[in-house]
Amino acid sequence: MKQSVYMTWAKYHAGAKYNLANSGILGCSLSDLTITLDDVQINGPNHEGYAPLKEAIAARYAVDPDCVVTAQGTSMANFLTMATLLEPGDEVLIEQPAYDPFLAAASYLGASIKRFSRRFENGYQLDLDKLKNTLSPQTKLIVLSNPHNPSGVNLNVNTLAQVGDLAAAVGAKVLVDEVYRDILFDEAEPVALHLGRHFITTSSLTKAYGLSGLRCGWILCEPELAERMRRMNDLFGAVGSMPSDSLALAAFRQLDRLLARTRSIIEPNQYLIRNFLQTHEDYLEYVLPKHSMIVFPRLKKLTDSEALHNLLRQYETSIVPGKFFEEARHFRLGFAVQTTDVEIGLGNLSKTLQQLP
Ligand SMILES: Cc1ncc(COP(=O)(O)O)c(C=O)c1O
Repeated sequence: MKQSVYMTWAKYHAGAKYNLANSGILGCSLSDLTITLDDVQINGPNHEGYAPLKEAIAARYAVDPDCVVTAQGTSMANFLTMATLLEPGDEVLIEQPAYDPFLAAASYLGASIKRFSRRFENGYQLDLDKLKNTLSPQTKLIVLSNPHNPSGVNLNVNTLAQVGDLAAAVGAKVLVDEVYRDILFDEAEPVALHLGRHFITTSSLTKAYGLSGLRCGWILCEPELAERMRRMNDLFGAVGSMPSDSLALAAFRQLDRLLARTRSIIEPNQYLIRNFLQTHEDYLEYVLPKHSMIVFPRLKKLTDSEALHNLLRQYETSIVPGKFFEEARHFRLGFAVQTTDVEIGLGNLSKTLQQLP
């Protein structure tokens, strides 16, 4: 099927007054940015991405500008990566549970999809032995998100390096979607590309900065591959959008301030979520990472979170049913919106959990 079922749901059904389905930080308004009209350009040199923006991305993540490919959001960055690296029939290993567009894109490209699990019982860590046994000489790409969507769990750098060693042994690459990385703040490890040439990092200004509308995404990879990605992009977006890229450049100048905004929104909510989960242990089991905007609890008394989702709708509150992540008993809770909304949303969730059979 040429669609991501989750993405369609997220666009048309996730919205609610108390939106705990959203996985990113509350969107910025214009007043959150210090910009003037002089920052915006309509036309300009953007055949291979806007050079000043590529330099800003490179400087922030300590890579060479030749390693940077700009793309429309992490979404397009992921698609371009897969489209460049995968031929029909090539094997791709994708984490489970996974962000659905990973699966939809690989399937659209005719890749042969294999899975490696990140189990709740194992704190959503990787089982490297199992991963090794799933790899084969046909494997071209391993795909994972770090921090992980839906659990929010971050793999440590040694684990990631070992994934890289396993991939390198069969000539495969590792795509690490790091769209949630920057909310680890000063505890974030360097981006995955620093672990070696077979790593590819994708990210954007969406989740950690609340600038989804700019569609400022990027791929960080070794320069030869970056060049192939740019040529592949000639078939899609071809050139970047100057208004978006010039505004994104202005945003890069103030990313630290925007990250402080993010922190000030998330931290009180993390406290609320921890407290909520601890006081609902009769109903829920969970793995709550130290830094996260999302968590993926498991229902103790039901095998499917659909009923919970449906009932919550009566209270104008939304969550993501676990079925969209192939784990029906779970649900994803996002908590990077206004604290009062999180408070009311959690209150509604509490009532609903108690009403369910
Ligand atoms: C793992 C992951 N990658 C990519 C995206 C999309 O990001 P963007 O808005 O940058 O395209 C999402 C959004 O939910 C996501 O969870």
